[in-house]
Amino acid sequence: MAVNMKGRSFLTLKDWTPEEVRAVLTLSHRVKKEGRGGRARQRFQGRTLALLFEKRSTRTRCAFETAFGEEGGHPVFLSTLDIHLGVKEALEDTARVLGRMFDAIEFRGFKQSTVDTLAKYSGVPVYNGLTDEWHPTQVLADLMTLEEAFGTLAGRKLVFVGDGRNNVAHTLLVGCAQMGVNVTIAAPASLQPAADVLEWSRTMAARTGCIVSAMTDPREAVKGADAVYTDVWVSMGEEEKSGERIALLTPYQVNDALMAATGNKDAIFLHCLPAVKGKEVTEAVIEGPASRVWDEAENRKHTIKALMLATL
Ligand code: CP
Ligand code: NVA
Repeated sequence: MAVNMKGRSFLTLKDWTPEEVRAVLTLSHRVKKEGRGGRARQRFQGRTLALLFEKRSTRTRCAFETAFGEEGGHPVFLSTLDIHLGVKEALEDTARVLGRMFDAIEFRGFKQSTVDTLAKYSGVPVYNGLTDEWHPTQVLADLMTLEEAFGTLAGRKLVFVGDGRNNVAHTLLVGCAQMGVNVTIAAPASLQPAADVLEWSRTMAARTGCIVSAMTDPREAVKGADAVYTDVWVSMGEEEKSGERIALLTPYQVNDALMAATGNKDAIFLHCLPAVKGKEVTEAVIEGPASRVWDEAENRKHTIKALMLATL
C-alpha cells in the first residue's frame, strides 16, 4: 500500500486520514480473497498479541484470535479477572510491561482513556476493540460490507436508527464522512449524537463531498437509504437504563415498514451484533433478504487482519 502505517495504533477512526482508511479497506478485500483461496500465509509468525477484555465479546475477540493465529501469531486472551488492569498496579506500569512482551495490544472496555494510556506507555501498536465512546474496528467491517454490496462507497446513503449517541453511531458518523458516504442518524431528541462528533463529521464531509445529518423522524431519515443500520438499545455498561430505552426507542424499531420507507428495493440491513431480535430489529428483517449481518460479522475478521498487517 502507498501509505505507511507501520507502528501506528488504532484508537479512534478520527486519528486516521481517509487515505489510511481506504488503504486498510483495500487490503481487507485482498485478505478476504486470499483466505477463501486457501492462500493465507504466516505473516504473524513469531509475533505475540495481548487481548485485554473488560467487557464481553464474541466477534471482536474471535476475529483478533483467528486472524492472528491462522497467520502463525500467538494471541493471549486476558480478562480483568486474570491481570492487574488498573487494580493494585498503575495502568501505565501494566502498559510498559505488556509492551516489553507483546508486539501489539488490543483493548476492549469502558474508558477511552484506558486504551489511550495503553498506547502512550506500551510503545507498541494498540487497537481499540470497543470503548464506551468508540468502536473503530466495527466500522471498518461495516464500510467493507457496504462496498461489497454496492461496489462503491462515495455517494451511498447509510441511515443509523436507534441510540444515536452510542459508540457505534458516533464511529459510523466519522467513518462514513471519511469515505464520502452520506450518513443520517435517526434518534429521539435525548439520544442524538454529541455535538462535537457531528461537527467533526460535517467538517470531514465538506472535504469528501457528502452530507451528515441527524433528525428524530425515522421514516423521514430512511428515505432513499442504501443501508439501514441499527444497534442494541442498551449498550454494555448501561444495563440500568433498559426500561427507559425501550420506552424511548420502540418507535425506532427496524421492521418491514421502515425498510419499505426507504423506497429502495435494494436497500440492505446492517447490525454490528449482538442483536436483540424483537427489540431494535424484527426477526423478519434480520433473517430476511435485505440482511447482510453475517457478511458484516465475517468481515470483522478480514478488516482486523488487514489492520494488523498494515500496522505490524
Ligand atoms: N460487534 C461486536 O463488537 O461484537 P462482539 O461484542 O461480539 O465483539
Ligand atoms: N453499542 C454496543 C455495541 C456492541 C458491539 C455496546 O457498546 O454494547
